[in-house]
Amino acid sequence: MVDIKWEELGFTYMKTPKRYVSYWENGKWDDGVLTGENKLSISEASCGLHYGQQCFEGLKAYRTKDGSIQLFRPDMNAIRMQKTNQRVMMPEVSVEKFVDACMQVVKANEEYVPPYGTGATLYLRPFMVGIGDNLGVRPAPKFIFSVFAVPVGAYFKGGLSPVNFMTSEYDRAAPNGTGMAKVGGNYAGSLLPHHEAVEAGFADCIYLDPKTHTMIEEVGAANFFGITKDNKFVTPKSDSILPSITKYSLIQVAKDYLNMEVEERDVPIDNLDEFAEAGACGTAAVITPIGGIKHKDKYTVFFDENEVGPVTRKLYDTLVGIQLGDVEAPEGWIYKVK
Ligand code: PLP
Ligand code: COI
Repeated sequence: MVDIKWEELGFTYMKTPKRYVSYWENGKWDDGVLTGENKLSISEASCGLHYGQQCFEGLKAYRTKDGSIQLFRPDMNAIRMQKTNQRVMMPEVSVEKFVDACMQVVKANEEYVPPYGTGATLYLRPFMVGIGDNLGVRPAPKFIFSVFAVPVGAYFKGGLSPVNFMTSEYDRAAPNGTGMAKVGGNYAGSLLPHHEAVEAGFADCIYLDPKTHTMIEEVGAANFFGITKDNKFVTPKSDSILPSITKYSLIQVAKDYLNMEVEERDVPIDNLDEFAEAGACGTAAVITPIGGIKHKDKYTVFFDENEVGPVTRKLYDTLVGIQLGDVEAPEGWIYKVK
């Protein structure tokens, strides 16, 4: 094991020994290799640099109590990346190649998979970039698909303690745009709203639907859920939201493990009083309870910073229990690495 203070890790880059790189040219991917080099050498005229033809994914490897290592639903990330690829005209990577690349990277960096019980995990960042010489706006002639790994702790401060958000007047995505695709441009557009929310004393911002600015869409780089006062799990439905694998897993956990009713529907920002609890969910965010939401002049408070709602806690314990191997997973959710 490497000498890292696992409990103190945040969500920051660290070079780990090995990453996977594969190149696409003339209609096919090469076999891909593991390399120690963490720099890419690409054409100054790469489509990924000028026209944003790139995308990424995020998933985690977990160390279980018995010391083994597992991935959570990597096939879902592979399928989502294929959908992104279609939207921005990039070649697809097969589910098998994607999962194999993730497995190789985890095995090659095994000593960086944080020990069980530290709260830390190994974050995998698969990404694809359009490269090669090109000037006009068209798909790139070549592509890189790569996966690197970084041990991480909490994305928002302090794991399961509530943080506060404010709504933004900016949009992260357009109706019929690329909001459902995991392309970097969506994140470039989120930098200023995020900065302004942090300057105003909030952890991040909540984006409203780009058409009417009346419905909740996303919570920074995570999906939103609320627990109604009559115990329903509610989450926004919209074509400009990134379909969160964590969110769809929570929907199943809420139904099958906690016997809750689930509604995927419009969530009006002016009707936050329907919720007893609210949270943000995602691979990096895990489940981050929402303390309060400021929208215009109204501040809706769910919990102060030391309190976590009972349903949010149950959802967290079940989901994280599944990811860490402590709770039996639905079939096909866990991929054993070793
Ligand atoms: N929404 C956005 C904009 C994200 O970047 C992410 C992170 O991937 C999510 C939601 C959560 O998705 P997932 O649960 O698949 O990580
Ligand atoms: C993830 O949760 O994997 C994300 O993509 C969030 C990231 C932008 C930090």
